[in-house]
Amino acid sequence: MIAALDDDAPLCLDQFPDWGALLGPRARRLELEIGSGHGGYALAFARERPEAALVAVEQRRKFADELRARAGARGLGNLVAICGDARLLAPRLFREGSLAAIHVHFPDPWWKRRHHRRRLVDDGMSLLLLRLLAPGGLLDFRTDVETYARGAVERLEAVGFANEAGPGRFAERPAGEIPSTREKRYLAAGHPVWRLRLRRPGG
Ligand SMILES: C[S@@+](CC[C@H](N)C(=O)[O-])C[C@H]1O[C@@H](n2cnc3c(N)ncnc32)[C@H](O)[C@@H]1O
Repeated sequence: MIAALDDDAPLCLDQFPDWGALLGPRARRLELEIGSGHGGYALAFARERPEAALVAVEQRRKFADELRARAGARGLGNLVAICGDARLLAPRLFREGSLAAIHVHFPDPWWKRRHHRRRLVDDGMSLLLLRLLAPGGLLDFRTDVETYARGAVERLEAVGFANEAGPGRFAERPAGEIPSTREKRYLAAGHPVWRLRLRRPGG
């Protein structure tokens, strides 16, 4: 794994990490996953896309540690697992306009109406996601919660995202798309998944 991101040499965030120095040419296609959970998406991504690199930010330490260990055991040097709150870490890890894609898969639903404000994709986060992406960069958002999906598409388009499927519309599952751990269950059960594929304009 990457020495500078190991626990022995903690990541120092008083300046942006030099992803090029840490990851080599793979850093030219740098992607972020927020809330990687058990890591099914991240591990498959790292295996199938050796020319790219993925930083997985997960707030539960156990999950982040397990993902880091599994990536290390499989020799996946293009996967970096970091423990922490992505809302705080992302603006310190990445310069604006530096990410080719951001993946948000099945964010915690916070079902009760009075808890909706705890949802990851709020107005502030929507703007942050837009700014971190390079022009033309992709926001890949998936959820099984229709109300979350409908609120998110409205919010994300309002801050300036362009919707590949057309305003307010949801995307079909692209052929060969890597499923997340949770998504595998839903696909097997035929449970609906609401997906957004939104782009930062330009590029
Ligand atoms: C419902 S799980 C989905 C996990 C995975 N994406 C999947 O589809 O299998 C949501 C995950 O997001 C993580 N999470 C929630 N808020 C987060 C935040 N602000 N920063 C990083 N991780 C977060 C949770 O700890 C949890 O592991």
